[in-house]
Amino acid sequence: MEVLQSKQDLRNWIRDRRGRERTLVPTMGALHRGHTSLIDLARETTPENDIVATIFVNPTQFGPNEDFDSYPRQLEDDLALCETHGASAVFTPAAGEMYEKDASISIHESALSHRLCGASRPGHFDGVCTVVAKLFLLTQPSTALFGEKDFQQLAVLRRLVRDLDFPIEIIPGPTVRDADGLAMSSRNAYLSEEERAHAPIIFAALSRVARGIAEGRLESPLEAVAELTREIESAPPARIDYLEIVDSITLEALTDFKNTTPRLLAAVFFGQTRLIDNVGLPALNA
Ligand code: PAJ
Repeated sequence: MEVLQSKQDLRNWIRDRRGRERTLVPTMGALHRGHTSLIDLARETTPENDIVATIFVNPTQFGPNEDFDSYPRQLEDDLALCETHGASAVFTPAAGEMYEKDASISIHESALSHRLCGASRPGHFDGVCTVVAKLFLLTQPSTALFGEKDFQQLAVLRRLVRDLDFPIEIIPGPTVRDADGLAMSSRNAYLSEEERAHAPIIFAALSRVARGIAEGRLESPLEAVAELTREIESAPPARIDYLEIVDSITLEALTDFKNTTPRLLAAVFFGQTRLIDNVGLPALNA
């Protein structure tokens, strides 16, 4: 496995492997089984391709009061995991390599980004779009993998590919969870013992309410959100940021379930730590 730190090294590596297609797995490092499942899925879905993982804690997607400085960094362990899971190369540039000091062009997404996670993180998805567009241009992949764990990010990046004509197929990876259902996240490490003990309520409540909708017990999004709220508020340290039931493509809040493919999305604070999760439902017909 090749470790590439500069754009020039990456370009040389691509040139030396002329004729091969690439699958991109972008990450910010601190890798866990959620990330490595994407490398595994890349091997399964595109076995002919080189797999390029990227590890870059992207400053432009963090707000001024967010955890950019304290975001966990553990490059040696991450590289070992990438190698074990079969990455062909890891691109891990320094911030100064990735962005010019006076960089003045960025990407703005104007339909999907201002709600949900974007409401409490202004500019976040523009930072994500800008860095992912740069990674697309630098690595020139034919396929890129992103986790359903970050469902809004996945929807925004599908838009990026569609609206800017990147010739790239996006493959979503299912959310990997701990045994008790908590979605794996680098930020789970910030939870106290008590918060960690209560955190599985998010997935438990989402799953129960999804079942209630599928079985017809919960007849409207209003009813379903009310039940979600009750369930999550029953865990003492939980503080709801948002609970929404949206259309899986447009992310618009649903007003009824007829002929929709709903997605249940949750963002919940435990202390200072904001956890997100979501579950899908099969298409519901009238
Ligand atoms: P990061 O949070 O490191 O996540 C990298 C990829 O791993 C994303 O596609 C994310 O959805 C996926 N992922 C995280 N936890 C997961 C889990 N439990 N199960 C399945 N997949 C999971 O998302 C980012 O980095 C950044 O915004 C990035 C796209 C790299 C741009 O900087």
